[in-house]
Amino acid sequence: MRFLITAGPTREHIDPVRYLSNGSSGKMGYALAAAAVARGGSVELVSGPVALPPPPGVNVTRVISAAEMHAACAARMTACDVFIAVAAVADYRPKHRSTDKAAKLPGDVTLELEPTVDILKAMGRLRTADQVLVGFAAETSDLEVKAPAKLAAKGCDWIVANDVSATGLGMESDDNAVSIWNTTGRVGMLGPAPKTRLAEQILALVLGDGGG
Ligand code: CTP
Ligand code: CA
Repeated sequence: MRFLITAGPTREHIDPVRYLSNGSSGKMGYALAAAAVARGGSVELVSGPVALPPPPGVNVTRVISAAEMHAACAARMTACDVFIAVAAVADYRPKHRSTDKAAKLPGDVTLELEPTVDILKAMGRLRTADQVLVGFAAETSDLEVKAPAKLAAKGCDWIVANDVSATGLGMESDDNAVSIWNTTGRVGMLGPAPKTRLAEQILALVLGDGGG
């Protein structure tokens, strides 16, 4: 089985030293990549900047921006059976990027932003019926409404959702607790558990078996 997985944050540069980004350690995406290899899968991991070593047996493509992550995914999408979007992609990027480091100005400044490409939604449009698409969602409120809405909007088969306000888990932590949704509604709750264990359980659930 061939996996394509995104992980980590993206950086949207304002100038060579300043950027917009999201908090994300990459641990969940890297754990899923390692779990997919352990199941005998071949794994393409498209990773934003993180401090993690590449999981053994995984082919890692390092990217910085959402546009680069999108291009890397689009080039690999037809050659995968399972696409899993774990990356915390920046939602906006500066409309203008300066090639020089701009000196700071006295007083307030206004930054003009434009939306980045929604990579999961784009893969949802490229997908075929026999490919499996899995998205993630970290929410602070109304998980029961937002998780199924994202599933539908992005053309996913599964959404792995965590309520980051209630649990204090997720983001940079080693542990996580998630609920899993498909087109029929919420089908499972996993954790709190280490992300390495959750990764195995998530794959077993979305691939419809008990492991191996
Ligand atoms: N995602 C993506 N590309 C983006 C934004 C999100 O691929 N530009 C993916 C994430 O990797 C995740 C899923 O979409 O799998 C949900 O991300 P999330 O940030 O929760 O959803 P958004 O659609 O960006 O909505 P919002 O941030 O407003 O809640
Ligand atoms: Ca977002």
